Amino acid sequence: MNVQHFFDKDTFTLTYIVYDHNTKDAVIIDPVLDYDPASGAIENNSLKLILDFIREHKLNPHYCLETHAHADHLSSSQELKDYFPHIKIAISENIQKVQKSFKDVFHFGDDFKTNGSQFDKLIKNHEEFSAGSIKIHAIPTPGHTPACMSFHINNMVFTGDALFIEDSGTGRCDFPDGSAQDLYTSVHENLYSLPDDTIVFVGHDYQPNGRDLRFETTIGQSKMHNTQLRKETSREEYVTFREARDKTLKAPRLLFASIQVNINAGVLPTELKMPLFNKMKKI
Ligand SMILES: [Fe+2]
Repeated sequence: MNVQHFFDKDTFTLTYIVYDHNTKDAVIIDPVLDYDPASGAIENNSLKLILDFIREHKLNPHYCLETHAHADHLSSSQELKDYFPHIKIAISENIQKVQKSFKDVFHFGDDFKTNGSQFDKLIKNHEEFSAGSIKIHAIPTPGHTPACMSFHINNMVFTGDALFIEDSGTGRCDFPDGSAQDLYTSVHENLYSLPDDTIVFVGHDYQPNGRDLRFETTIGQSKMHNTQLRKETSREEYVTFREARDKTLKAPRLLFASIQVNINAGVLPTELKMPLFNKMKKI
């Protein structure tokens, strides 16, 4: 099995193409659509890199797998389908929880369904499914969002925003229905029970202290060296740390644009809604 990564410098996002060199079967994980909020411009430069690679290697992509409804970039899943109409967009069935939460935030009408029907496939926890010769095991890793799913393929696991490179820790847990308790279980029990030599491919790399890009580690390295959640880290220690850290974080730059597009399976509206929250105090 082969993996090709693509790094979007604007949002620090990793996209992956996993493919079988012999059969040409492929899946795409977390593809990015370029969006400039200042001008409202949507571009497909990131998508072009993926399409070029698929064409160059004559791949047959079966699925666009979303590790979760991203809050920091728009998905290019629908645009991928424009070029490969048979691609199925797949996400955890728990996307329904995220849709219900944000339907209220955006004041969407009844025509916005919260049953996940915008997606081609809703993945169940621990489901095993195939993309041609590629066998995928879906490991639930909620906590960053309730609909986070990691994808275990051969000796690799694609962890989205659950688990990052050791010096970056784990994803934040302060979005609606996020839970540091859940993320502890997801990482400590669901991911750290995989064999130590399982290769971890992360969903973001923020390149702390200006270090070079890293997108790959192992379960064994993570268990020993992750700065936030090691095998020896207690639940209480992690939850206390995570909840305190999350209070210091700003909302992602593209939060509302990303969420309203991504919970609708990447379908682009003609205009975006931008909610306002009145936090003014009496003076
Ligand atoms: Fe995320």
